[in-house]
Amino acid sequence: MSKMWEGRFSKALDSQADDFNSSIHFDSRMFRQDIGGSVAHAAMLAAKGIIGAEDADMIIGELGRILQDLESGALPVDFAAEDIHMFVEAELTKRIGDVGKKLHTARSRNDQVAVDIRLYLRDEAADIIQMLHTLLEAILSQAKQHKQTIMPGYTHLQRAQPITFAHHLLAYGMMFTRDIDRITDAVKRMNVCPLGSCALAGTTYDTDREMTAKALGFDGITLNSIDGVSDRDFCVELLSAFATVMMHLSRFSEEIILWASWEFKFIELDDAYTTGSSIMPQKKNPDIAELVRGKTGRVYGDLMAMLTVLKGLPLAYNKDMQEDKEAIFDAIDTLKQCLIVFPPMIQTMKALPNNMLQAAQKGFINATDLADYLTKKGLPFRSAYKIVGQIVAYCIEKNTVLEALPLETYQQFEPTFEQDVYEEIALTTCVEKRISAGGTGLASIEVQIAYVENFLK
Ligand code: ARG
Repeated sequence: MSKMWEGRFSKALDSQADDFNSSIHFDSRMFRQDIGGSVAHAAMLAAKGIIGAEDADMIIGELGRILQDLESGALPVDFAAEDIHMFVEAELTKRIGDVGKKLHTARSRNDQVAVDIRLYLRDEAADIIQMLHTLLEAILSQAKQHKQTIMPGYTHLQRAQPITFAHHLLAYGMMFTRDIDRITDAVKRMNVCPLGSCALAGTTYDTDREMTAKALGFDGITLNSIDGVSDRDFCVELLSAFATVMMHLSRFSEEIILWASWEFKFIELDDAYTTGSSIMPQKKNPDIAELVRGKTGRVYGDLMAMLTVLKGLPLAYNKDMQEDKEAIFDAIDTLKQCLIVFPPMIQTMKALPNNMLQAAQKGFINATDLADYLTKKGLPFRSAYKIVGQIVAYCIEKNTVLEALPLETYQQFEPTFEQDVYEEIALTTCVEKRISAGGTGLASIEVQIAYVENFLK
């Protein structure tokens, strides 16, 4: 394909170098944004008298038809073009001749690419936020069914204190609300328009950058044209937010994998979200959760690639920056794939409350409550803690649990114990009495559910 810059050169680009240099294979997905940016630019050029109104109409009309043809598939993308910006401009000129050549007045591909990627990411971020909403709804629906389903809470993966399944699920709910906030916040900072920065120094034409910014739905314009074309902070910020979402999905996946194992059996995943083994007939594997966990590394890699591309890069545009797109597109595609399958997997998984309760009944999960019981009867907490430690050691030796220990035995350790101790260390009591804000008690769970519901409104 002939090059826009061929006047300066006496020889064509080597064909392999040309392929290497080209980005159309991955940036053609931004065709809508590219055409949208060009339409706004042409309208502004006419409004400022830089090109004639008739020329602008012709350009805008044809860009509309090119968009339609790309959408319908009538116009295939020509992968011989260097990138989507060159392709659209070349197609325009092919269709309307010299008038098409006026479009590139007072702009550069550097600001085009900076605009297009912002517009593209703004749309994708909105999609991802919507998908996170769906995930939060799935979490809420499970949490509402299990406000009083008791399970062991863990620290160090050792049974620690009884909690409810809703409480555990809502912890993930909180993470995903923060993720949405993080993405929203990054988009807010990104939503300023670099169009009109031109190559780097601005332009000699009397342009109206506010006009194009407004037409494209930006909140304002970038104030420094060098920064306008050099900045990819928003890619780093969004990638970091996406990597954090993946980290949360990965922690959730890990727990789902554990819970679905025979050792735990706290949940049963729906058949639609598990796979069998080619050799072991009994197997039901949590592949979907495992893959989500596995794909997290990829998205971390995309973030690292982006940071590394920008490290030490002098101002303004350098071709290195073409690498921004593959990293962030891969992160978006990967995250979206995960967010398609994850919510229905959560929605359809079946909790097994009896197994959760059984697991909670072992492991001295109510030992803290036993110590609190003595403290409320007047012992200093540290003394109570020590006595309970001795009782636990005794139970382990006798292969029994706190609930089954006779009152006389309790009283041998500490005469303050009375019959009411059993009521106090019953698991339901332990959960109900966790009345502190944010705790596992029912009132707090209701507050957490209401918070997420409100967040979704
Ligand atoms: N394909 C390029 C990119 O994605 C567009 C900008 C090229 N600008 C230039 N001066 N070579 O970054």
